Amino acid sequence: MKTTPRGRFITFEGIDGAGKSTQIARLADALRARGLEVLRTREPGGTELGEKLRDLLLDMAMHVDTEAMLMFAARREHLAAVIEPALAAGAWVLSDRFTDATYAYQVGGHGLAAARCDALEAWVHPGFSPDLTFLFDLPSAVAAARVAATGADPDRFERERRDFFERVRAAYLERARREPGRFRVLDATRPPDGIAADVAAGLAEKAWL
Ligand code: TMP
Repeated sequence: MKTTPRGRFITFEGIDGAGKSTQIARLADALRARGLEVLRTREPGGTELGEKLRDLLLDMAMHVDTEAMLMFAARREHLAAVIEPALAAGAWVLSDRFTDATYAYQVGGHGLAAARCDALEAWVHPGFSPDLTFLFDLPSAVAAARVAATGADPDRFERERRDFFERVRAAYLERARREPGRFRVLDATRPPDGIAADVAAGLAEKAWL
């Protein structure tokens, strides 16, 4: 019996305003043009329950433990209902954020003990991590200016101060340093075409296509 090859799980990370969404859309189009099944999703969110949790998380002040547990609750649902079935069916799953974001925002930004995040990760997805993670890196001042330029009302995270985003950025870079095989760090201050070329190069290195 022929078995379907497992799909690929690619995540996109970075501080708010890094320009991930544009690049996720471009990569999804490029992969679909090659005949691949692609699923675009996001965290927190990706399921009906997850999107409700997202509304709460982006709006209401809460204890950092609560914040981390709700992020992982949404993630558990997302994995079970969306990510795992799609990968099993051979799709390429492109997720705007995953567990690295909890380490960066809750541990790095809000001071959650890393051991608590480790415990939640070990509960929710032991032994599972993205196949490839693109980290969109840029100074917080540049990112903040981009968020302000959208004119949209900032959410609870986007209202954080500059030093919060510098801690988040540092936490992301530290994770990338520890797992160089999984991460590809991109200079997100570059124009979109340049970043798209870097994303394509990151994929080419993996020789999956
Ligand atoms: P987004 O606006 O990029 O979709 O992300 C929503 C916000 O949620 C963003 O400010 C980062 C934050 N976030 C966390 O704090 N922890 C997490 O685990 C995830 C997935 C997102």
